[in-house]
Amino acid sequence: MTAIADHHVSHDFDDAPTSHPRLLAWVREVAELTQPDRIHWCDGSDAEWNTLTIELVEAGTLVPLDPAKKPNSFWARTDPTDVARVEERTFICSVDEADAGPTNNWRDPAEMKAEMSELYRGSMRGRTMYVVPFCMGPVDAPNPMFGVEITDSAYVVVSMRIMARMGAHVLAAMGTTADFVPCLHSVGAPLEPGQDDVPWPCNQTKYITHFPEERMIWSYGSGYGGNSLLGKKCYSLRIASAIARDEGWLAEHMLILKLTSPQGAVHYVAAAFPSACGKTNLAMLEPTIPGWKVETLGDDIAWMHFGDDGRLYALNPEYGLFGVAPGTGWDTNPNAMRTIERGHSVFTNVALTDDGDIWWEGMTDQPPAHLTDWKGRDWTPDSDEPSAHPNSRFCTPITQCPILAPEYENPRGVPISAILFGGRRATTIPLVTEARDWTHGVFMGATLSSETTAAAAGKVGVVRRDPMAMLPFMGYHGGDYLGHWISVGKDADAAKLPKFFYVNWFRRDDDGRILWPGFGENGRVLKWIVERLEGTAEATDTPIGRVPTPESVDISGLDLNREELEACLRVDPEEWRAEVPGITEWFEKFGDKLPTSLWTELDGLKARLGMK
Ligand code: GDP
Ligand code: PGA
Ligand code: MN
Ligand code: MN
Repeated sequence: MTAIADHHVSHDFDDAPTSHPRLLAWVREVAELTQPDRIHWCDGSDAEWNTLTIELVEAGTLVPLDPAKKPNSFWARTDPTDVARVEERTFICSVDEADAGPTNNWRDPAEMKAEMSELYRGSMRGRTMYVVPFCMGPVDAPNPMFGVEITDSAYVVVSMRIMARMGAHVLAAMGTTADFVPCLHSVGAPLEPGQDDVPWPCNQTKYITHFPEERMIWSYGSGYGGNSLLGKKCYSLRIASAIARDEGWLAEHMLILKLTSPQGAVHYVAAAFPSACGKTNLAMLEPTIPGWKVETLGDDIAWMHFGDDGRLYALNPEYGLFGVAPGTGWDTNPNAMRTIERGHSVFTNVALTDDGDIWWEGMTDQPPAHLTDWKGRDWTPDSDEPSAHPNSRFCTPITQCPILAPEYENPRGVPISAILFGGRRATTIPLVTEARDWTHGVFMGATLSSETTAAAAGKVGVVRRDPMAMLPFMGYHGGDYLGHWISVGKDADAAKLPKFFYVNWFRRDDDGRILWPGFGENGRVLKWIVERLEGTAEATDTPIGRVPTPESVDISGLDLNREELEACLRVDPEEWRAEVPGITEWFEKFGDKLPTSLWTELDGLKARLGMK
């Protein structure tokens, strides 16, 4: 492991493991501003992981789990105010306000830099500044997407080691000239001499800030994953979406899976659902119908480029899984359970068992008799609150997933046959709907709506529009974003483009019960989708698109009667007419940046619903 420079920041950097001039200059500049006690260049080694996790255990940030149950794994509890992404505090600081659009918070970049520089001034005092070289996607890609995160949080370093390709091999691959996205992170909790640290340092003032033109990220005040692991949402979605617009590709909030039919036909599927709406589960699906096989490629982010053959190829830039813990169990997501059992994982804001393992709601039918809850309190089944925070997370290497597809490391990605959009809707949206063509599919994505979840701070269960599940992650104007989707399809060979489907696992009956069994049973919907691609399944044309005939959905062996299936599939014109004003209002937000073809789609929908 690289020697920790244990001096009061000398800025000659003789011991730096790189001579990349731009990187050295930036590290020097940040060190002068933030005034850490030490600088450590991360090499990503096991020795470094061991040192950092021991330090984090001593600091009280991590608690080691019983290695017989979860080898090399840790339990972390955050400050109770630092548990989710903070959309209110997330900014797109484009030079021109119009480029951030109506859905993002915007601040003038110069003003934001001035304000945040004052926050960063001395913010690492008493702490170590870690320099984390990382690469989103394979390091041997033709155009590797490098980043360097500077952080004063060892929790961030160990999490980044799980979530991204990181360390000495990345720094070596960067050489002295590689371009990289500078990602600055501070928890904003300097320590005065002699001051005791807290287990989860953070600051009540938080900023998650992006400078899209400069391809730069500044994050302050939060240690929570989505706010602090800057390779993930900040780089791979917000900054990458701006790069993708400029370069003609797509950076999307999508899982990627490989589906093999009993006949051996392979289809690759991407799916965009808002946070905590089922991506990780679908990506690791264990189909209940015989002969069908799912293999995992990614559970959160897809970068999609056109190949020379005219098909759209998707790549998962991440190296780990950062999954919602509650609801994950042997019944619902056995492959996630198998992945975390292999250890080398960090569990944040779940509950701790008395024998040194972790637990959360939904892991087993019967809760343990006693737990330590995510706030560190005694918990029993009689307690009023859940033991795990609803947005508690497992952070685990994707390479441990027993059904990881062999194509995962291929920098070319996989050719996508179908793109699914979906969300949580108690009413209106059928189990699955097929789009007529690319424009109609973009319309479905553009009007996607979902109930809010605990993945972001704020009220839960409120229906909001979330285009392509990218509302919190678009790095530029939402109207331009939808225009980019339209133009990507226009420039391509229609026969080679993926087909679009809109799914909803969360429709409820009048008693509030979820109608569709979900999880492994979602394989039945994937089967229908593949049969549509292959031209063998029946569908009914409805005002909103093509919906399965009840006979065309394989419900053999499922405890679901015909009436219940029909309720899952129902297109109720009355419900849809009630949906239209919300869509109109949503589209009006984007002004003249909204592609006119989407207004045409809306007019078509209204006409089919008998509205004028
Ligand atoms: P992600 O954040 O989009 O990756 O969503 P996850 O796959 O982590 O799921 C979020 C929550 O939704 C978890 O509590 C899951 O148990 C639950 N969930 C996922 N898929 C389904 C499904 O098909 N049906 C139901 N009812 N719940 C689901
Ligand atoms: P998720 O990822 O989509 O798996 O919930 C984290 C997030 O989007 O905040
Ligand atoms: Mn996500
Ligand atoms: Mn997920």
